[in-house]
Amino acid sequence: MRINKYIAHAGIASRRKAEELIKAGKVTINGKRVVELATTVKSGDVVEVEGSPIYNEEKVYYLFHKPRGVISSVTDDKGRKTVVDFFPQVKERIYPVGRLDWDTSGLLILTNDGDFTDKMIHPRNEIDKVYVARVKGIANKENLRPLTRGVVIDGKKTKPARYNILKVDTEKNRSVVELIIHEGRNHQVKKMFESVGLLVDKLSRVRFGSLDLTGLRPGEARRLNKKEVSRLYNEAVTKS
Ligand code: URA
Repeated sequence: MRINKYIAHAGIASRRKAEELIKAGKVTINGKRVVELATTVKSGDVVEVEGSPIYNEEKVYYLFHKPRGVISSVTDDKGRKTVVDFFPQVKERIYPVGRLDWDTSGLLILTNDGDFTDKMIHPRNEIDKVYVARVKGIANKENLRPLTRGVVIDGKKTKPARYNILKVDTEKNRSVVELIIHEGRNHQVKKMFESVGLLVDKLSRVRFGSLDLTGLRPGEARRLNKKEVSRLYNEAVTKS
């Protein structure tokens, strides 16, 4: 098996991330640094990433209701609470599939399956990601229309999105809007609303494809079953 695939299978990183680790000289096989991306791993080989041996382990998938105030990563150099801290009993090396901002709550999948992760975060996958945003200002058809056509954020146009206005509070001058997108760019939802003059002050992801947060309170998680995982694979059809 090729070294990047082996690392992805072991749940250390996605294949692309694995290539970065190799290029950065952080991967060894039997003590020798790997320089060729095409290197293969044979049975009995000892593979180490950043000095720690890696093993192929059973693939696990968790659905997590991320609370606000938690980082979507495995470690944090400032010692802040991360999503993985909520899984002390899980021995597999799980990590989040994509990320939610520190102050965003909601649905996050964690796994040790690098191939699954690649599929889910592929920029052309068609999985619906549904967010509920409370914004400052009055949302209406006129100011939200650009979101349905695509707006330019960070120099690149977003794919057409759908929305539903859930609540408008003229007294408090704020609105609650559901936004459905397929992409997962950095701070995408906040930036999309900002581009139409509405500042997000509370954000939550309530759905990812066929998954929602039914039965999970913030901080709670459950295992996904095989059916749910294969349904997600089917939903992640990529358009090229
Ligand atoms: N878009 C954002 O702006 N933040 C998130 O956490 C997720 C999507």
